[in-house]
Amino acid sequence: TASQIFIKNPSCVAYTYDDIIMMPGHINFGLNDVDISTKLTKNISLKVPFVSSPMDTVTEHKMAISMALQGGIGIIHSNFTAEDQADQVRKVKRFENGFITDPICLCPNSTVADVIKIKEEHGYSGIPITDTGKMGGKLMGLVSSRDITFITDTSMQIKEIMTPREKLSVAKKGVDLHDANEILKETKKGKLPVVNENDELVSLIARTDLLKNSEFAQSSKDPVTKQLLVGAAIGTRPEDRDRAAKLVEAGVDVIVVDSSQGDSVYQLEIVKHLKETHPKLQVIAGNVVTPSQAIHLIQAGADGLRVGMGIGSICTTQEVCAVGRAQASAVFHVAKFARKYGVPILADGGIKSTGHITKALSLGASCVMMGSMLAGTDEAPGEYFYQDGVRLKRYRGMGSIEAMSKGSEKRYVWENNSAHSIKVAQGVSGAVQDKGTLLRYIPYLVQGVRHGMQDAGVKSLDETWEKLYSDKLRFEIRSPAAQKEGGVHGLHSYQKRLF
Ligand code: XMP
Repeated sequence: TASQIFIKNPSCVAYTYDDIIMMPGHINFGLNDVDISTKLTKNISLKVPFVSSPMDTVTEHKMAISMALQGGIGIIHSNFTAEDQADQVRKVKRFENGFITDPICLCPNSTVADVIKIKEEHGYSGIPITDTGKMGGKLMGLVSSRDITFITDTSMQIKEIMTPREKLSVAKKGVDLHDANEILKETKKGKLPVVNENDELVSLIARTDLLKNSEFAQSSKDPVTKQLLVGAAIGTRPEDRDRAAKLVEAGVDVIVVDSSQGDSVYQLEIVKHLKETHPKLQVIAGNVVTPSQAIHLIQAGADGLRVGMGIGSICTTQEVCAVGRAQASAVFHVAKFARKYGVPILADGGIKSTGHITKALSLGASCVMMGSMLAGTDEAPGEYFYQDGVRLKRYRGMGSIEAMSKGSEKRYVWENNSAHSIKVAQGVSGAVQDKGTLLRYIPYLVQGVRHGMQDAGVKSLDETWEKLYSDKLRFEIRSPAAQKEGGVHGLHSYQKRLF
């Protein structure tokens, strides 16, 4: 059992996910009966226990929107100015399924060349024209590919060729997707502008999006405003208080105080400040790997704890600083301790498969935070590129020299005046393989976890933890040979398809 492995552990060995394996239980329920709903913090519940990491190659607004739509949540990284990070939060908060709330616009004096440029860069050409050339301006018309097909003079102004406002079908703010779909069918246009009572553009609906929009019954939403939930990371420096205030104003639901060693006076002070200044805000503190670190943050008012040190796929913290802990041990010990205070924990980093997610949850984590698993998806920041014929996206540690030079140094250095100090990297920069869209990947991860829980004979996370702490959930340590045996072996070659 977990208590034999982690507590009555005379050899003082720390274990990680690959070291342990779960014993099968009795199955008397179907796969789809497995309930993986959980808590992220004291006050935030999620239907899916997945969180995307605040890293600049993982979570910006697109990732956060997709995670929340599918029942998890994304934490926007802080390698942005405070204003830009707050703007990312606003984009998630404004998001309505099927409505484009930040469309690219042009103004009547823009030229055909501008339309061609947008088409080349972004692939679309149904562009709303407003008096300011921006979203929120008065709607003046719409230009589409058809309007520019036969035009050779690219300096021609758009007002000469656009469909003007009086000939446009529009929808009024508040329209639902079903009615918008009906209008689009009638007008046979590709785009439908949505305007407010002053005829200002508030969003745009695209026919192509309507076709691919499905319902997201699981989505993580504020029960009152119905807006998607989103988190954002901040550091522990004095200026991060101001950053937090801007994020709160933008509507952020949870702030993650991002630090590789969370048990510092700097972090305790900022956690206390956040809880006093923004009483409704949920605050996740960390990172920690021991109960003695956790207690300080719990006492400071943390609503959730992030667990993991030096175990992420891009981390070199254990190598460089000689400090950290194997992740299964860290998760088990901190979760068991924090449970007494009703504080959920987030197992952060080191997740390489659905089996690792199931193990993290079964050792007491309420959610898992993932970096490399979610990097390389369509929704992660950055462009795909090819190397040796393989399609890749960049993924880098926030402690890599490249990321630290963009601001994330604050996660690793607790010094008020670090401007001239020598940089010590605690992470690397690399690339991961293309995984396609999260819309297919997250359902695969969810189903993988359900399979694992079903095999272990547990129908919900609450049942898992009840069995874990009463020693009814059984684990064993795998010898190195057993670990080898548990992976693919003995084949000359094979192909691995995930789904
Ligand atoms: P995975 O394994 O999911 O890990 O890719 C993501 C987590 O790793 C942490 N992180 C770092 N840790 N140096 C570190 O020691 C780094 O440069 C670094 N960047 C990210 C972070 O906790 C993240 O969620």
